[in-house]
Amino acid sequence: MTAAAHPAAPAVEVVDATVHYGDVLALDGVSLSVQPGRICGLLGTNGSGKSTLFKTILGLVRADRGRVRLLGLDGATARRKGLVGYVPQAEQVDWDFPVSVRDVVMMGRYGQMGLRRRPRPADREAVEHALERTDLTGLAERRIGALSGGQRKRAFVARALAQGADVLLLDEPFAGVDKGSEATVTALLRRLRDEGRTLLLSTHDLAQVPELCDEAVLLQRRVIARGAPDEVLRPETVMEAFGVHVQGEGERWTH
Ligand SMILES: Nc1ncnc2c1ncn2[C@@H]1O[C@H](COP(=O)(O)OP(=O)(O)O)[C@@H](O)[C@H]1O
Ligand SMILES: [Mg+2]
Repeated sequence: MTAAAHPAAPAVEVVDATVHYGDVLALDGVSLSVQPGRICGLLGTNGSGKSTLFKTILGLVRADRGRVRLLGLDGATARRKGLVGYVPQAEQVDWDFPVSVRDVVMMGRYGQMGLRRRPRPADREAVEHALERTDLTGLAERRIGALSGGQRKRAFVARALAQGADVLLLDEPFAGVDKGSEATVTALLRRLRDEGRTLLLSTHDLAQVPELCDEAVLLQRRVIARGAPDEVLRPETVMEAFGVHVQGEGERWTH
């Protein structure tokens, strides 16, 4: 794994990001910071700007204002070095695209391969290792569209690992994933965190946040709350962002 350029710097830092799509204000002065080796949950309802924030960090949408730094580097440099891996929201992937799981994981190596994209032994090794880590070796020849929801997520995590990413951005990693694979995905994400990687993941499943996330950010176009999960998931803040009541005392949340 590549060491951070500045060990003391946040792994992810967004300062005052404002993004419009035409007249639609999607992000309004959003700032957040995640230290290396942490899992941060990005919480918010549909349309609250979670995917837009990921795309802003990835340089896929242009911010009107604000800046992104990753591992102490400016966003573009960190991305060029392959330090940030992306697991997109399922809806944003064309599952009919005729590629195998191994092909998808190999795409993580493209940035290091040169224009002809001819894999070298090191590329193949990185891909096989990433497949093993995500428990997908037996499914490597399968077409990506023929996988279950949880297996698809793991394939994209494998792509990020093959790339050598230290920062993983996971957009709704639990959406469309059954309960059994959810536990597999959760265990994998924890292991990656324990090895020192930084994970920013979006979810609208609040019940999962306290056990998985070290910290949380509640987004509703702007940041409504951030901090420890139990601070962020206070009834008033959840009510403001989700418009729901809490079941019982500080237990599980409905949505
Ligand atoms: N490509 C786009 N063009 C126009 N509006 C968009 C586009 N993508 C997202 N939006 C709008 O921006 C807002 C935030 O969307 P999004 O970031 O996808 O939220 P979330 O991921 O939290 O559901 C929503 O109002 C959505 O309709
Ligand atoms: Mg989204």
